[in-house]
Amino acid sequence: MAFALLNGQIINRSEAKVDIEDRGYQFGDGVYEVIRVYNGKMFTVNEHLQRFVKSADSIGITLPYTTKEIAEMLEELLKKNNLKLGNIYMQITRGTAPRNHLFPPANVPPTLVAYTIKADRPVEKLEKGVKTILTEDIRWLRCDIKSLNLLGNLLAKQKATEAGCYEAIQHRGQDVTEGSSSNIYIVKNGVVITHESDHLILKGITKDVILGLCGKNNIPVEERTFSVDELRDADEVFLSSTTSEVMPVIEINGTKVASGAPGSVTRKLQTFFEQEIERQCRILE
Ligand SMILES: Cc1ncc(COP(=O)(O)O)c(C=O)c1O
Repeated sequence: MAFALLNGQIINRSEAKVDIEDRGYQFGDGVYEVIRVYNGKMFTVNEHLQRFVKSADSIGITLPYTTKEIAEMLEELLKKNNLKLGNIYMQITRGTAPRNHLFPPANVPPTLVAYTIKADRPVEKLEKGVKTILTEDIRWLRCDIKSLNLLGNLLAKQKATEAGCYEAIQHRGQDVTEGSSSNIYIVKNGVVITHESDHLILKGITKDVILGLCGKNNIPVEERTFSVDELRDADEVFLSSTTSEVMPVIEINGTKVASGAPGSVTRKLQTFFEQEIERQCRILE
């Protein structure tokens, strides 16, 4: 039997229901996190929980638990579901109240939900790399908040899938921002270049890990806006996310990236990233 966490209680997943006037359902009025689980252990859990608090705080939702309490509840959920390799999905909304654009009174409790999903590592894609398309970034200007409002992201991902691709690389005019559910990097002359973590992108937890690994291994990094032309002219391109790890990009809009095979810097970062998973979670399944 599968279990879910609903407002502090671990219950049967089939019984975990929210009201039709939950503000997450009606307005996407909430924030979320996806945490990767390897070997039954949460990877970078503190970083995810800190971002969860920050996202909630940016839209005026106060978490009813400390991050330590949430971590303990998630641990328990993992154990109950016996999840070894997969993801935890967690979201908090502004709660249930009669539909109104205005925030409900402060005494309306938020709705906190978490559940687990079994998911293998995308090993074949990590080995071979993935194809992408370019698409205009039509999202709002607070992409740093991990908001439930994902329409722009969904439309971009759908377009990519319909084109037979794994991801859509978004750009605002000439400036590349990020993928529909990932951060984007180019490598030029040995330098890893990725958009600065401002309001136009989500500050990926995987991005932070990767930039830390670059630092430790003397791989130069520039966090700055880069253009679509630079992307097209890159020696290597890769993307990153909690579920995609360090994913080589081998094609953009039907044109090969350099020789069309994953590059050497990308390969090194994949190795360092796997070592980091092993360090934090002991065994890589
Ligand atoms: C829009 C967007 N950017 C970047 C990321 C990567 O973030 P993380 O590495 O924390 O998973 C995600 C993850 O889902 C995302 O949705």
